[in-house]
Amino acid sequence: MFMNSITVLMTQSKGTINPNIYGHFSEHIGGVFYDGLWVGEDSKVPNIRGFRKALAESFAKIHPPVLRWPGGCFAETYDWRDGIGPHDRRPRRINWWYNNDHRVEPNQVGTHEFMDFCRMVGAQPYVAANMTSVTPLHIRNWIEYCNAPAGLTTLADERAANGDAEPFGVKYWGIGNENWGGGGRMTAEMCAREYLRFMTVCESLPGDMTFVACGANAHDVAWTRALMAALAEKGHRPKALSVHYYCGTAGAPQDFTEDQWYQLLHQANYMQNIVDDHRAAMDGFDPERKTAIFVDEWGCWHRDGSGPSRGYNLFEQQSSMRDAVVAALTLNIFNNRCDVVGMANVAQLCNNLHSLYLAGGEHFVETPNYFVYDMFKTHQGARQLEVVNDCGEFGGGEAFRKAAKPLPRVSASASQAEDGLITVTLANTSMTEPVEVKLSGHGGLLTGRAEIVTLAADDPHACNTFENPKAVQPTASELDFSDGGVITLPAASVTAVRIRG
Ligand code: AHR
Repeated sequence: MFMNSITVLMTQSKGTINPNIYGHFSEHIGGVFYDGLWVGEDSKVPNIRGFRKALAESFAKIHPPVLRWPGGCFAETYDWRDGIGPHDRRPRRINWWYNNDHRVEPNQVGTHEFMDFCRMVGAQPYVAANMTSVTPLHIRNWIEYCNAPAGLTTLADERAANGDAEPFGVKYWGIGNENWGGGGRMTAEMCAREYLRFMTVCESLPGDMTFVACGANAHDVAWTRALMAALAEKGHRPKALSVHYYCGTAGAPQDFTEDQWYQLLHQANYMQNIVDDHRAAMDGFDPERKTAIFVDEWGCWHRDGSGPSRGYNLFEQQSSMRDAVVAALTLNIFNNRCDVVGMANVAQLCNNLHSLYLAGGEHFVETPNYFVYDMFKTHQGARQLEVVNDCGEFGGGEAFRKAAKPLPRVSASASQAEDGLITVTLANTSMTEPVEVKLSGHGGLLTGRAEIVTLAADDPHACNTFENPKAVQPTASELDFSDGGVITLPAASVTAVRIRG
């Protein structure tokens, strides 16, 4: 009888899974910061130096490697000087998103607060710098303010006077955001010219920094080619190139048909084409593959207004089991391309698109997406292992895009950590049918007992809400390989298998 199988090839690997693939993104937009991450020190909501305590503690548990900030589009009108100094003297500004939600930026979270949050949760900061509406010197000064050794310069002294004598040591600096759109509506050639102007001025500062050039929107490989060509003409190869890819349907996130389930999953699976086709376009200018791809915005973008604030927080959305399966599918794609994906940042952390958290006042919930990050965290920094996935495919990807690769019936990736722990992560992409899978190893058997964590719900539309915060929770079980290594993946579910090697 045919049995679906996943075989882990214990001796075949594309390399180490960069922990930064498990990165996050937090923008000054809607409710991400204000009443989301940040409640203020005087709030009745329990907080750590102004940040929501429950969220900071929960976030630290999934070992966030890196957090991108302050945008997004917001970055392109941000003046870092607005966010330093005494809180009561910080200016209020028209937020980049004002025309969408009429909200003013109070600048209560600025550089010091953001760095404090990063330290609190153990993440590295990734600062997205404004390339559209300030000068290169302005950004150079920000870098110096953040990174210059204590006492060396006037900007370092200013940082110390504002409470942080020790430098922040920011390694990742995005130069521009979506410069093909909200970041100045540039052509790739204009963007390359601006990037070189900014980056040249900034990279003459000391320190180990990675400057990220603004890459394409979704599958626009023409942008990638033109940008890489314009940079190569000036003898430059960036350390990293970003790409943004969102998937979504016009519908509400928690109210979808079976067709819409598959439509969204096919769109999410298109991430394979996004990464592979941009990489192929880059190869002409970077044959040794020195430039990493940073997918520094990705996630599901549904119709607005489904979150607990009922539309007050711009882009705030509910997340169901469908979004959790998208997260698992996407992270498996990145794991399996760890040789080319150097970072990925799901958009956005709280009260926004594809969020891990929903919060407001005293309410706080972990969405199904959160549990996926918890279940996948042991892949971070581990050695990727190739898998032979013999579970079949769902056709129909061409209904979305002609070149789209078929959706795997079971999405899978595997890794082995330095301490021997093997992690296999699986997502059942069927909305209605459970599937039995035989899990085995090749070139090293999978033996003994494995821990299994399963994220599933009776209804794939299930979400965690303020009223029912624990509707979707992972459950633990065990697998004994001496019983044949067969596991049942419930319909619309995510599973992590951890085996001590
Ligand atoms: O994540 C929301 C927005 O989506 C970001 O600000 C922008 O970069 C993208 O278009």
